[in-house]
Amino acid sequence: MMININTSSKKLLETSLDCLIISVFENKLTEDKLFSEVDRKLDGIFKTLVKEKEITGSKGELTLVHTYDKIKPKRVLVVGLGSQESFTSTVSSKISADAIRYIKRKNFSTIGTVIHGSAGYKDLTKELCISLVEGMILGLYSFEKHPQKSNNAEDKHTLNIIIGEFQQPYKKTIEEAINYAKITSEASIFARDLVNQPANLMTPTLLDKESELLATRVSLEYKTFDKSEMEKLKMGALLGVSKGSHEEPKFITLKYMGNPDFPDKIVGLIGKGITFDSGGISIKPAANMSAMKGDMGGAAAVIASIGAVAQLGIKINVMALIPATENLPGGSATKPGDVLTALNGKTIEVENTDAEGRLILADAISYANQLQLSPLIDIATLTGAIGVALGSVSMGLFSNDDTLAGELIASSESTGEKMWRMPLWDEYKDQNKSTVADIKNTGGRQAGSITAAQFLHEFVGETKWAHLDIASVFMSSKTNGIYNKGATGQPVRTIIKLLSMNDHSLFS
Ligand code: BES
Ligand code: MN
Ligand code: ZN
Repeated sequence: MMININTSSKKLLETSLDCLIISVFENKLTEDKLFSEVDRKLDGIFKTLVKEKEITGSKGELTLVHTYDKIKPKRVLVVGLGSQESFTSTVSSKISADAIRYIKRKNFSTIGTVIHGSAGYKDLTKELCISLVEGMILGLYSFEKHPQKSNNAEDKHTLNIIIGEFQQPYKKTIEEAINYAKITSEASIFARDLVNQPANLMTPTLLDKESELLATRVSLEYKTFDKSEMEKLKMGALLGVSKGSHEEPKFITLKYMGNPDFPDKIVGLIGKGITFDSGGISIKPAANMSAMKGDMGGAAAVIASIGAVAQLGIKINVMALIPATENLPGGSATKPGDVLTALNGKTIEVENTDAEGRLILADAISYANQLQLSPLIDIATLTGAIGVALGSVSMGLFSNDDTLAGELIASSESTGEKMWRMPLWDEYKDQNKSTVADIKNTGGRQAGSITAAQFLHEFVGETKWAHLDIASVFMSSKTNGIYNKGATGQPVRTIIKLLSMNDHSLFS
């Protein structure tokens, strides 16, 4: 489906539309100017519906009313925003998504909408416009790239959406917000598509191809190391994981220099790129193993984020590093008990071949340190344990830097991609001690996400660093708000938001 989103200075009530979306806060119905104006023109139908308690303004309530040519729009969809006190940009994007999905089911084509919740607050208009647009684009998403599906008819339907009724002096702000939100939601969708793709159609080689195409499209510097170059660089941990598969591993790098005045200040983004995780010799149970085609969710997020940062032309330097491989139990696979040597010379006892994410990240982090990238942010579907701790509501955030952690949390609060900071106390390091090597790759049953993060920490050293364990949130089990069943594209919008607030000291 094609979606066009534009502004218009013409009043929405005087625009020919299949449907006009207006929204109201609970208990504030009569205070909304547009709601009252439409009510007058429709001879008081809203008043009746309010009296009958069919329109209350409660969160997510949808009421469709026909206008019988009394105004230009053929219909009005009244959307409830819930209480004004609990209204946030996250609520706004969820409601926008639910409303536009309803519109899609009805097959309407030309839609007008207000910026939900913006009436009372002038300054929030930009943020609320971003969440409106992101909500609509993400809410309409479904995974369509099934080259293997013979009846894969493309949805040729076009939805034209006009955003109007904002405070007039803000037209430029609104246009900037629309542009920003289109880029961030397209980036989230790009990440979702990569994750939803079956593993035989998203091998390390194909992920590399996608990265190269993106690099050409948005002008990124691109370089990928193949196996022989990894051997030269001594990426023993990544190579160790790749040994059980016939697919060649790739170490993909993308670079965007948006701030050439400070060429040495480069933020590092590292994404776990396991294109399929069978567990290796420590093989996983069969049930739900197919979900492990998405074990490159971190890589997808990193690739999509750096692409969007380039499209937005943000004044910042960013480099993305993506170690990509399959984790399979082939005849030459790494075995439990084997010892690998990472790029930085540290030796690792592989107690469990299913703890492969931290192995490939160890080499990528060591390489980032060689390049002196700072701060470093790694994104990884690292542990099932993070879902035990936080459920599917939030990802885990680990950081050795309070400022970086604070900036990430602030960004995530505006996108709704929740993250919760977890501890990195020294006491947890003991669980990773090995008797035969410098460190081992599992820390036992307790605090599984924390010991995984502590493992990464050993390779990070003193560099400012944050680790996002997204295993709890990279997939959604159901369609709800801005999420469709399947990949969520988290935390792409948060990373873009963080990097676009480059007025803080972290990045310069
Ligand atoms: N890719 C998995 C983690 C995962 C689990 C991601 C569920 C998404 C959903 C990771 O490589 C893994 O297998 N981790 C092990 C670690 C253990 C062997 C120490 C785990 O979580 O069980
Ligand atoms: Mn694993
Ligand atoms: Zn994995």
